[in-house]
Amino acid sequence: STTIQALRDMPKAELHLHIEGSLEPELALRLAARNHIELPYRDLDDLKRQYAFENLPSFLDLYYRLMTVLRSREDFRDLMLAYLERAHADGVRRAEIFFDPQVHMDNGCGIDTVMDGLLEGLAIGRERYGIRGDLIVCMLRDRPVESAMATLDAVEHRAGDLIGIGLDSAEVGYPPEPFAEVYARAAAMGLHRVAHAGEEGSAAYVTGALDALHVERVDHGIHSADDPAVTRRLADGGVALTCCPLSNLRLNVVGDVRDLPLRELARAGVRITVNSDDPAYFGGYIADNYIALAEAGYTMPELAEFARQSLLATFDTPENQSADL
Ligand code: HPA
Ligand code: ZN
Repeated sequence: STTIQALRDMPKAELHLHIEGSLEPELALRLAARNHIELPYRDLDDLKRQYAFENLPSFLDLYYRLMTVLRSREDFRDLMLAYLERAHADGVRRAEIFFDPQVHMDNGCGIDTVMDGLLEGLAIGRERYGIRGDLIVCMLRDRPVESAMATLDAVEHRAGDLIGIGLDSAEVGYPPEPFAEVYARAAAMGLHRVAHAGEEGSAAYVTGALDALHVERVDHGIHSADDPAVTRRLADGGVALTCCPLSNLRLNVVGDVRDLPLRELARAGVRITVNSDDPAYFGGYIADNYIALAEAGYTMPELAEFARQSLLATFDTPENQSADL
């Protein structure tokens, strides 16, 4: 319909996208064959049956397992290009993209292999699709803080090729506070700061990310709505949330998109953005997330405001930002 086309065409930024979460099952099997890696699935249909998730940890099991097929610079380039082609069709002008180096380094990839491939994909995508893209290095919160610090050491010589630091993986039981020193060092390296908080965890994780990590955006953050003081703090501080409706639905954070508090948060003055998180796993790319909100009763002006906020909440230069507004 025309609404759907309008939502696809609307200029937008994607601020919450794990590049590994854009690995489609077809590409995963192709890369497994190319790299001679055995996966425990009989065929594509068998693999596709694994996508019914109970919660965040059950999704992460499949996500980390499929990441083992990514080995070469070309693999990372191809993964990035496949995402950018799809993002371009959804009106994305700017993308700030997470990657999980700890997992790739476990799989035997050097940090330069990973980053060179992703950056090559971004450079080609910029030429081909006009999408401005940058990388956010993500630390796994369910590993020891020493591992995050060692990863920061490993990327320090490439700090100029990164725009920010993030924190992801299993949330409940892994609060942000222990990563304060990692974030302070990343800030000193010139990196912007974001963190997943308040996805499965409570509003206290959002407070922790603000106080201990000094984050400039909060990834997910929907449980902020449970605490009026946290909601007010986000509104007063102009801290944007990078929300991912289809992710929340598929990981059973909510039973229905209508149960998401995006309208309430927006009316309280919190900046809301809409993103895809792990589109190959959650049944849709960024425009599908806008469409899911439209089907749940969000109006065109509300959705246009979320898109406008996404362009305003990037870490891009003001000149580039204003070009899309
Ligand atoms: N939450 C936490 N960690 C993740 C996610 C997510 O949605 N996607 C990939 N790693
Ligand atoms: Zn995420």
